Amino acid sequence: MNVASVVHVNTSAPYDVLVGHDILKDCAEAIAQVAPCPRTLALVCDDVVEPLYAGTVSRSLEDAGYRVIRFTFANGESSKSMETLIELLNFLAENKVTRTDYIVALGGGITGDLAGLAAAIYLRGIHFIQMPTTLLAAVDSSVGGKTAVNLQAGKNLCGAFHQPDLVICDCDTFDSLCEEHFVCGLAEAIKYGILCDRELFQMFEAYNRGDSIADIVARCVQIKADYVVGDEEDHGKRQFLNLGHTPAHSIEKLSHFGVLHGHAVAAGMAIMARACEKKGICKEAFSQRLCALLAKHNLPTASAFDAQAMAEVALSDKKRRGGKIFLVVIEEIGKCALHEIPVEELEDFFRAGETA
Ligand code: GLY
Repeated sequence: MNVASVVHVNTSAPYDVLVGHDILKDCAEAIAQVAPCPRTLALVCDDVVEPLYAGTVSRSLEDAGYRVIRFTFANGESSKSMETLIELLNFLAENKVTRTDYIVALGGGITGDLAGLAAAIYLRGIHFIQMPTTLLAAVDSSVGGKTAVNLQAGKNLCGAFHQPDLVICDCDTFDSLCEEHFVCGLAEAIKYGILCDRELFQMFEAYNRGDSIADIVARCVQIKADYVVGDEEDHGKRQFLNLGHTPAHSIEKLSHFGVLHGHAVAAGMAIMARACEKKGICKEAFSQRLCALLAKHNLPTASAFDAQAMAEVALSDKKRRGGKIFLVVIEEIGKCALHEIPVEELEDFFRAGETA
């Protein structure tokens, strides 16, 4: 198996993230290390990913002697629901999946979140493996153990922390992503450079689509792992991963989720960069450089919504703590801090970030 990097995630139940090119076809080799034959593997994917990669994965697993059963659901956010979750749970039960069997999530963030939550609750918890096929899932959602489905009242409102046993990330699968979805992943990846890795930020300034991305992915995964280890349930340092996400969540909600998450994160990071500069928190002229990088990758650098509306939405969000709200602020490229600000100052903060 041609693995370029292995990132060890030292959570309460530790696991490895394997990053490479053209590795799906040999996935059984890696899976056998954590879940030896014989056993059943429930492969979960959507109907876009299924024709692309499910055959390759199933072949590798069946040739190695696993019993593979396949659950396919309709592509899209509407499948990240209690209804699809219940269908998946019933599918597992009807196929007599036991506690020694594994779920394999093959796809993007929706697949990982849905399959991960099923793994967290089916028979009070079974093992699962993540195989991200989008850049966004590779650098973010497949690592760290957050799983969830949406409720009518909002996104990700029903979930659990449940770490995977293995993550297999084949970067060749990103080739099938449209430009828009690829750059959404880049937005989250750029976030890690701003957070704590100036050299990584510079790598994105030099990066063009088509260049090899496995090293960048492994570096992002390592950073994510460092924030998750020691704070798996998101009470402390893991909150740094929310850089740009407070304005981003407002943008997503105000657009009725018409704006993609990665686009909203890009705009949210630009807002934070401008606001931090104007408020003297960011010590270097960074916002122009960030906006140039985002524009290079066709990512937005501003919000279409007014600061007042954005603040109102943010303050009704679950991140509010009494009269205060936490913001991840940028001090310089590669150095951020958590600031607690009074809720009445949030609108002013967003206003400062509206324009240069
Ligand atoms: N996506 C942020 C986190 O995993 O904490």
